[in-house]
This record gives sequence, C-alpha cells and structure tokens, in this order.
Amino acid sequence: RKVTVIKAPFSGGQRKGGVDEAPDKLEEFGLLTDIEQLGWTYSIADPLAKFDLKSQKADPTDVYGNVLRPKMVSESCEAIFESSVEARKNGTLPLTVGGDHSIGMSTLLAFVNQNPDGGILWIDAHADLNTPETTPSGNLHGLPVAFAMGLKEENWPPHFDWIKKLPHKVKPSQIAYIGLRDVDAGEKKYIRDLGITAFSMYHVDKYGINKVLEMALEKVNPSGKNPVHVSFDVDAIDPLYVAATGTPVRGGLSLREGLFIMEEVAATGNLAGLDIVEVNPALASTETHILDTVNAGLSIARCGLGETIF
Ligand code: ARG
Ligand code: MN
Ligand code: MN
Ligand code: MN
Repeated sequence: RKVTVIKAPFSGGQRKGGVDEAPDKLEEFGLLTDIEQLGWTYSIADPLAKFDLKSQKADPTDVYGNVLRPKMVSESCEAIFESSVEARKNGTLPLTVGGDHSIGMSTLLAFVNQNPDGGILWIDAHADLNTPETTPSGNLHGLPVAFAMGLKEENWPPHFDWIKKLPHKVKPSQIAYIGLRDVDAGEKKYIRDLGITAFSMYHVDKYGINKVLEMALEKVNPSGKNPVHVSFDVDAIDPLYVAATGTPVRGGLSLREGLFIMEEVAATGNLAGLDIVEVNPALASTETHILDTVNAGLSIARCGLGETIF
C-alpha cells in the first residue's frame, strides 16, 4: 500500500494565480502524515520542478485562437502523464494534487493507457468537455476531458501531438460525471451526442448521492472488478464548504456527499488513481475559507485512502 503523491503546482490552465500554491498548502496542513496514519507509505514526484513555469506563464505568444497557453499546458501535462504512468508501474497509487484541472488530461490518459477497461468518475460542477471550438473562456482547465477523449483533435492547437500518438483515449462509455451544474452549451451537445453518463445536482437531489454513485459505477465499471480513477474538482462541493476555488458555483454537493463518494469508492477496493484539483488558497477572503477548503481537500484524500468514521 504505497502512494505516489504527484505534485502539480500548475496554474496555466486558467487565469487566476494561487492554485499553484495548493500542493504545498495541503502538505503544510498534514497531507503526508495523514497518508502515513492511514497505513500507507508514500513517495513524492515533482514532475514540474524542471520547468520555469513563471516565465512560461508570462509568454504572450503562447496562444492559439482564444486558447490560452497551449504550449505550457501541453508540456506540463505530458510531464505529469509520465509521472502518473511511472507511479503505477512502480505498483503505487497516484494521488495527483493540483493545480488547476487541465492536468486531468494527464491523469486520465495515464489511467486508460494502463487500464484500457477502467472506469472514471469526474466529480465537478463543470464538465470540462469544451474543445477549442466551443470554449467560451479559452482556459484549458475547461477542456481536459475532451483532450483525454481525443475529441475533435484535428482542430487542436499544435503541441498536443503526444496525446494523438497514445494507443488509448478515454471512451465516452468509461466516464461518468457527478455534481454538474454549470455546463456550457457546446458541452451539453457533446454529452448528448456521445451519450456520456452525467449526473447533475438535479439527479443528486432526486435520487440521493448513494443511488447516483451506484448508477455511475454500474455504468463505468459494470463488472465491479475494474480499476476506477476519480478526478475530484473541489468546486463540485458547495462554496459554503469550499470557498477558495477559482470557479465556484452555488448549489453543489454537501461536504458529506463529496466525502461519501470517496468513502464508497475506497470501500470497493478499486480506486486506482485520485486527483484533487482547483484548491486556490489565494482566493480566500478569510482565514476560515482557507482552513475549510484545504481541509476539504485533505478529507477527500483521506477518505479515498480508506479513512472511515468507525
Ligand atoms: N466551462 C467553463 C470553461 O470552459 C468553466 C470551466 C471550469 N473548469 C474547472 N476545472 N474549474 O471555461
Ligand atoms: Mn469545476
Ligand atoms: Mn459557465
Ligand atoms: Mn474541473
């Protein structure tokens, strides 16, 4: 039982500073001791250490249409992809700590190339399924699912050839969303056209989180025997509990509903990768916001690693 904590202090997929401080903040608040107390050992990977992210972020030529910083995102994501592959090769569970959610393309692609029949849960207020032709913001943290699927890859910015060359992409049938409540028009069309399983907050209210999770797992892991990757954007949880995040949307999961997802997936024994993204300590307007948000991130990690109340 070994974890590789993959640090991804990355903010290039969107426009707000501070989300790159999250990995250190989570460590400062006890991530590593939490991991050990749950009976896991860990090693740390820091794939972005070799980049000069500051000057990359300041490069005004790194744009493609309205898409911001494709080169920086691609290079960083490729490095995170490699760390993620490496972690699983070493028999460890990759726990990737963002950073913004653009890095989800890396962790999903590593997962499906090592587990072509694995299932993916994308826990988020947003679908992150825009393509360069549909993105309203140009922020690449709104596109990682589309990139992991190879969706409309003929119209991608250059630099993402490493993805095009991979043998496996995420199949629409192997991913399910939970927590959606701010989905762009283009994304809604892709979800419908591709038949992606998507549980919005409406479904959580209607069926309850237990049933929603059961239905989601049934879709992405019908045998119950395949590995499951969870990509957890903390903005899935209501800003009441998680205020310090870049694109908060009211009407989200309660903290307990979010943690229940992790407790339940952990209980299946199938968890094979976890991302915790979009914690942004710099966006807190009070000290309590920082404490709440960082502690929510830590709780997600602990529940994924098997922490139970009794
Ligand atoms: N759908 C919006 C966009 O594409 C917001 C995306 C927010 N993504 C996130 N990972 N927080 O710009
Ligand atoms: Mn989100
Ligand atoms: Mn929106
Ligand atoms: Mn997201």
